[in-house]
Amino acid sequence: MKKLLALVLMTVMLLSVFAVGAAAEAKQISENALIGIVLPTKEESRWLNDQKYFEEYFKDVNYDILFSQNNTATEKTNVETFISRGAEVIVLCAYDAAGAAAAVNAAKEEGIVVISYDRLIMGTDKLDYYVTFDSCSVGKAQADYLIEQAEGKSGVNLYMYSGALTDNNSVLFFEGAWKALQPYIADGTFVVRNCDKAVEFKDKNELTRDEMVSIMQTIDSEWNMATCKSLAEAHLAAVGSEAKGEVFVLGPADDDCCRALSDAFRDDAEVTRLVITGADGVEASVQYIIDGKQSMTVYKDTQALVKGTLQIVEALKKGEEPAYDTTYNNDAMDVPTIQADVVTVTADNIAEVFFEGGVYDGSNYTGWQ
Ligand code: GAL
Repeated sequence: MKKLLALVLMTVMLLSVFAVGAAAEAKQISENALIGIVLPTKEESRWLNDQKYFEEYFKDVNYDILFSQNNTATEKTNVETFISRGAEVIVLCAYDAAGAAAAVNAAKEEGIVVISYDRLIMGTDKLDYYVTFDSCSVGKAQADYLIEQAEGKSGVNLYMYSGALTDNNSVLFFEGAWKALQPYIADGTFVVRNCDKAVEFKDKNELTRDEMVSIMQTIDSEWNMATCKSLAEAHLAAVGSEAKGEVFVLGPADDDCCRALSDAFRDDAEVTRLVITGADGVEASVQYIIDGKQSMTVYKDTQALVKGTLQIVEALKKGEEPAYDTTYNNDAMDVPTIQADVVTVTADNIAEVFFEGGVYDGSNYTGWQ
């Protein structure tokens, strides 16, 4: 009797193991599956790079791209459009990290595979995959550059800016930057001039998400060039000349924002030297870097994300589980993630990375030869 019971138990256990294995199996999509790609906006240069590479690498794929104009309602409509067009996969780069969860859930109800692209969609357990850069390392690379430039100095004026609070990446960028910068704020190498909240936390290296958000709220660029300009102007108007002279700026991990901040800071006659960080490696910043108006960028080769997305699509067409590097937690689940690396670019290696690397045509720029 005992033996029989053991046998039954074994069978039940084996069956349940088998069930888990089966549940984890990838959904098969059809060879001509429609892949609906939703990108946040055409107004930020970064996404035009992604669009360009989707057009290049997805030539043999049945795909379409819709832009959401940085608007939660448009984003939702775009996802609904792809649902009604019978998309089998939706690749969503969310404008609104939390707001997009409802659209993901709606897509999932129709059995659609949902890939969170570049930015993590928060608070839904219905995501299938995430494809991204290592955003913490972007913030860290920016901070490391500032620290290197400040070597041997003390009391360096520092202005900090964050990405849009609607975007989970902004928190990761800030986290990476803060962890590296904080010891140098605490020891007086840097003096933060535009953010009392950051000064309040200057002795704390490991901030909670809420603490980070409380700092970021006061320096939120909204990923918008006009916002950057007005923030910088207001910050400069609020300080005396001791907070100008040589100025270091932690840009909000976006080259467009970096150029807008650079213009505003360089417009102030009392700012005599500017060290300012960007990120993305967009074309419009190349001449700025050569000319020293932007000190560096953290280059994100968006081909890596597009290729990662294609890898997932191709695996699903074969009914195979796509390979991934790591997982990211979005407050509801651990999302299987393909993660790409980034490269720091300054005037010193811009020719090597961008021109010799075939990213941009060096003959379009002057002063680097
Ligand atoms: C972020 C993205 C950056 C930058 C920014 C503004 O989410 O990771 O590369 O482009 O948005 O669009």
